Amino acid sequence: MCEESKDKVIVEVREVWKSYPIRKVWFKKTSFYALLKVSLKIKKGEVVCLLGESGCGKTTLGKIILDLEKPDKGEVFWFGQNLKRLNSKEYKNLRPKIQAVFQDPYSSLNPRYKVKELLIEPYLLNFSSDYQKALAKVEEVLEKVGLGSEILEKYPHSLSGGQRQRVALARTLILTPSLIVLDEPTSALDVTIQAQILNLLKNLKESLNLSYLLITHSTSIALYLADLMVVMYLGKVVEVFKKDFFQKVFHHPYTLLLFNSRPEFISKNNQKVKVKTQEEIPSPFLRPQGCEFFSRCPEREKDCLKGSPDLKKVASYHLIACYKR
Ligand SMILES: Nc1ncnc2c1ncn2[C@@H]1O[C@H](COP(=O)(O)OP(=O)(O)O)[C@@H](O)[C@H]1O
Ligand SMILES: [Mg+2]
Repeated sequence: MCEESKDKVIVEVREVWKSYPIRKVWFKKTSFYALLKVSLKIKKGEVVCLLGESGCGKTTLGKIILDLEKPDKGEVFWFGQNLKRLNSKEYKNLRPKIQAVFQDPYSSLNPRYKVKELLIEPYLLNFSSDYQKALAKVEEVLEKVGLGSEILEKYPHSLSGGQRQRVALARTLILTPSLIVLDEPTSALDVTIQAQILNLLKNLKESLNLSYLLITHSTSIALYLADLMVVMYLGKVVEVFKKDFFQKVFHHPYTLLLFNSRPEFISKNNQKVKVKTQEEIPSPFLRPQGCEFFSRCPEREKDCLKGSPDLKKVASYHLIACYKR
């Protein structure tokens, strides 16, 4: 996304647009853009974090990467291959490598199946019909997610939230994925359980050299896990930076707002700044003219209304869409 690199790219989205219909006005269909010209690369072993408030398009982008939604315009590549050009055999080979864990594992874990069946099924469907091999793989994966084999005979409803999320994670690991899309993976959990799952995710990522697309509205979760931060606002990417650069470089005014609990930031001229904002959150249905962040921006000027700012490279691995940066 920032610089070309020889590192292996697992997923790339290139200038993706996605609209959804909203309502009919005088029998005319109208729609709004949930994503506008979004580009992103996820490399092997990297945790890319999509950060932004609810409704900014994070889940939509995650679904496009998983091929659960099709973009209106733009391209999606898995391992360098354009999804539009894959034949069914190539697709079937790559499909298991991109997996997902959602906020509420209830929706992905069929309540009528025992954990054993939930875990064996994807293996049998994708790899081999050898039941004993499948069972051996299930046991290996259970250990990785910190569950004992006694859980195999249980049904999802009898598990705790943390156990269910571990099962959901095990279900993806069965398929030896390269990338897991984690969509608000701990939002439904108590704080202590959240910490355990985040810790597990971090360890798994390191031991299995996984890549994650971590979708979250939580700045602390993003800081804990991310390598690369991708900040979204109203369907657009407004900043991309390496986590290690956090607070060491100047940021987009929206990034400053998100991290507002951390009182001081560095502005472009290297002075510490305190962030104050106006609170007028625009609707994605009525896109503002000019910079989308204008109504909330403490640094706004009349000139910012000249159009929506494009992302521009301000430094190595650092992109910002702001006229003032
Ligand atoms: N299937 C859909 N049909 C219509 N609107 C949708 C659909 N999915 C998402 N949206 C809308 O698209 C916008 C972005 O949603 P989403 O990607 O879920 O945001 P986030 O995950 O950042 O909260 C929201 O305004 C949401 O209401
Ligand atoms: Mg979401």
